[in-house]
Amino acid sequence: MTPWLWITVGIGGFLVVSAALGLAVTAILAQISREISELLDRLNVRTLASYGVGGAVVELWLHRLSPERRLRLTDYAPETVERLRELFHEAEVVRHDLLTDAPLEADLHLFHRIDTELTNAEWREVLGRFAQDTVLVVATEIADASRILREQLGRLRTRGLTRAGWLRNREAFEALWRPTHDAAPLRFNDLDGWLLEPRSKSPA
Ligand SMILES: C[S@@+](CC[C@H](N)C(=O)[O-])C[C@H]1O[C@@H](n2cnc3c(N)ncnc32)[C@H](O)[C@@H]1O
Repeated sequence: MTPWLWITVGIGGFLVVSAALGLAVTAILAQISREISELLDRLNVRTLASYGVGGAVVELWLHRLSPERRLRLTDYAPETVERLRELFHEAEVVRHDLLTDAPLEADLHLFHRIDTELTNAEWREVLGRFAQDTVLVVATEIADASRILREQLGRLRTRGLTRAGWLRNREAFEALWRPTHDAAPLRFNDLDGWLLEPRSKSPA
C-alpha cells in the first residue's frame, strides 16, 4: 500500500469510529432521558426546572418525549443562556446561579451531572435553599475505591493537572443531603441518581 492509501484508510477508520461513538453516546442519552421522563410522568411533574443545563441535550429529549410538560432551563454562564434562548424556543431559559439564587417555581428540580461543579460546602448551602423542594440528582459518576486511588496516583505522578471537578463515592454523595432531604436511590441507564424529598414532608 502507498503512504497515501495508508493515510486515507487511517482517516476513514478514525471517522467511522468517531461516528459510531457519537451514535452510541446519543443512544445512551436518549435512554437516560426516556427513563427520567417516565419517572416525571409517574410523579405527575407538569413543570420541570433544570439547573446547569449546558447544551441541554437531555432537556431537549425530555421536551420531545413529553412536549406538554413545561420546561424551565437554567445555567449561570451568560453565553450558554443566550445560545439556548436562540435555539430552544419551546423552553423558558433563565440565568440562574445555584450558589446564590432561590429555586424557581416548579414541581421538580433536576440537577443532571452538575455534582462535579460544587464543593461539599456549596452543595449543602444549595440544598439548604432547596430544602422545601423535590430534587432529582443524576450523578456524573460514583467513584469506587480503585477509581479514587487511580485519581490520587495520577495527581502524584503529574504536577499541575487542571481541576476537572469533584469526585465522590456513594457515602460522600449521600452525606450531602442528609440534613435536608430523604433520598431514594435510582438508576438511569448507566448513571446513578437519587430522588430527594424534603425531610419536613416525610411522615414522622
Ligand atoms: C458538566 S456540565 C453539565 C451540563 C448538563 N447538565 C449535562 O448533563 O450535560 C455542568 C454545567 O453546570 C453549570 N454550572 C456550574 N456552576 C454553576 C452554578 N453555580 N450555577 C448554575 N450552573 C452552574 C456549567 O455552566 C455547566 O453548564
